[in-house]
Amino acid sequence: MAQIERVEVYVDGSPEPFQVITQAPFKVKLNPADFEAGDHNMRVVIYYDNGEYYDQPYLFTIQHNNEIAVGHINQSPIHSPVAVDLIDPMEQEGLPPPKVLTHAVIPTLLFLLILVVAGWFSFYGDTSASAEVTNIEPIAKPSRPEAPAGGAVDGAAIFAENCASCHGPNGEGQGDVFPALAGNANLADTDMVIDTVLHGRQGTAMVPWGEQMNDDQIAAVINYVLSAWGNDFGSVTPEEVAAKR
Ligand code: HEC
Repeated sequence: MAQIERVEVYVDGSPEPFQVITQAPFKVKLNPADFEAGDHNMRVVIYYDNGEYYDQPYLFTIQHNNEIAVGHINQSPIHSPVAVDLIDPMEQEGLPPPKVLTHAVIPTLLFLLILVVAGWFSFYGDTSASAEVTNIEPIAKPSRPEAPAGGAVDGAAIFAENCASCHGPNGEGQGDVFPALAGNANLADTDMVIDTVLHGRQGTAMVPWGEQMNDDQIAAVINYVLSAWGNDFGSVTPEEVAAKR
């Protein structure tokens, strides 16, 4: 069984690691005081001594100034600060195999986290609160796409930043789970495509994008998907997107 050697945590797309943990216990420490209120994203990369690794995105939300929620637990915020105990994915059953270093980064969707309100509460003088949450399903929610200079919205760039990690840089999909978009005849139903991108598909890794992108951005990425890689499935307008919100 390979051992965890190193954990790197990146926050909000920064190339500099927010935390690097090289010794057990492998806990990610998040102090809400360090973040502005609102949505943030976190990437946890776990390296093993045999050269394999897991790379997993998470969304977390800082609420008010003193609460934090990770993944799907936004409804029941945990009082802060929290430590995220990493469960070694290699000890979980039913997970896809880890990736080997040097290969492309693919999100692993079944990674589990336990959040534990940490023992270093004493540092903050609060010993009363404690909470434990298990089986958090990660949500892949990469950072908000920026419109390129000049105001035009670049659907290809939005796709590369937000969609390619699952659907493949050339829309080729991945395995059985992430459908190919290149040559996918389902896309001829453009109403379905707008619904899927705006609202996601419940219970799948296809999360809703309507909250993070405006109508122009949604239409741009859809039009890219409908016409890239030899696709010829027509186009949609921002007005059609707005009508389906
Ligand atoms: C975290 C992985 C992930 C990301 C990121 C992602 N998707 Fe998906 N997408 C999926 C999965 C999984 C499905 C299939 C859902 C199902 O089984 O119904 C899907 C389905 C779709 C479909 C419907 C395909 C069909 O045959 O019905 C479209 C269109 C689509 N995604 C577009 C996008 C676009 C555009 C983006 C970026 C804005 C995006 N996806 C980002 C995982 C993802």
